[in-house]
Amino acid sequence: MRAFGFKEINGDIVELDLPCPEPGEGEVLIRVSHAGVNFAEVQHRRGDFGAPEPTGDVPGLEAAGAVAAVGPGVRGFGIGDQVTAYLPAFGGYAEYVVAPAAFTYPVGDLDPVVAAGAPTVLTTAYGLLVGAGRLAAGDTVLIHAAAGGVGTAAVQLAKALGAGQVIGTVGSADKVAYAKEFGYDEVVVRDGFAEQVRELTGGRGVDLVLDSVGGSTRADSLGVLAVFGRLAAFGDAGNHPDLTLAVRPLWKSNQLVGGFNIGDLARRAPELVTRFARAALDLVAAKQVRIDVTEVLPLPDAGVALDGLAAGTSRGKLVLRA
Ligand SMILES: NC(=O)c1ccc[n+]([C@@H]2O[C@H](COP(=O)([O-])OP(=O)(O)OC[C@H]3O[C@@H](n4cnc5c(N)ncnc54)[C@H](OP(=O)(O)O)[C@@H]3O)[C@@H](O)[C@H]2O)c1
Repeated sequence: MRAFGFKEINGDIVELDLPCPEPGEGEVLIRVSHAGVNFAEVQHRRGDFGAPEPTGDVPGLEAAGAVAAVGPGVRGFGIGDQVTAYLPAFGGYAEYVVAPAAFTYPVGDLDPVVAAGAPTVLTTAYGLLVGAGRLAAGDTVLIHAAAGGVGTAAVQLAKALGAGQVIGTVGSADKVAYAKEFGYDEVVVRDGFAEQVRELTGGRGVDLVLDSVGGSTRADSLGVLAVFGRLAAFGDAGNHPDLTLAVRPLWKSNQLVGGFNIGDLARRAPELVTRFARAALDLVAAKQVRIDVTEVLPLPDAGVALDGLAAGTSRGKLVLRA
């Protein structure tokens, strides 16, 4: 089958000729129509997940298409069903991919282009808010990278789940108006955000920070936490060195620091991945949350999509057409 991937760290995305995968126990085979593009694939190509296989690694954490085969033990899916799936073992940039049936969801009335960009960001944003972030009604939330795939979904989910004021930060002023379309009460440029957040919250600070940027953004986020405020780290888009935090200042100032990782959740609590995704997809079906696909590129242009994401110039979701 035709797939697109890379054979060396930071290598070009090239066409690969690979055997079609076969669905194992509890898996479905999907004939891919569209694949979502995620920052994780930028990290995959830059070697954050190790060196690629000699035959090439195929990135892609999510894909939509038609069920082409089902493995032993799979119930509830038939050949031809239109589905979208979170792919914990990657592989979405291909003609066919296998997905755990537990992470495969019927597309329903959703446009397959939008459906392809939904499972990973929705599960992540919902898991961050409800799982890691323990969001309570009325909580004030700060979301970094507010105009991105996860950021645009997270603000809508936060509001749907009863959050109070939601503030976003973006890397450059040209993203402010776009991010605001998704329901942020305020969007500020990240440089110097801490002072602005303190002002916008009347000095109280925020109950929850979702941070995918790292470095000084993460360190400065600690300084804007309200009493019992939670900082949920879930990415390192800035590629900064990791932070070393002392514990004593955390308990001395009533702060909580934690994190979210969808891959770990898929391995250790797969039922939560399914629950978070289904709950968020229900909000999409109810039109309370929308996934904004800003660009659809042909699969051979996967490298162009990844370059845009790596440069931090993209907004919303990018999707590849197989
Ligand atoms: N832990 C998990 O399970 C999990 C799951 C999914 C995604 N994630 C993480 O969540 C984040 C969002 O993912 P996404 O796919 O929706 O991506 P995205 O937010 O659409 O794109 C990444 C954004 O990160 C910001 N950024 C900050 N510093 C950057 C830098 N040095 N280079 C490039 N971008 C930079 C940019 O926004 P600004 O212009 O606003 O700075 C950029 O648009 C990523 O960091 C990803 O790794 C984690």
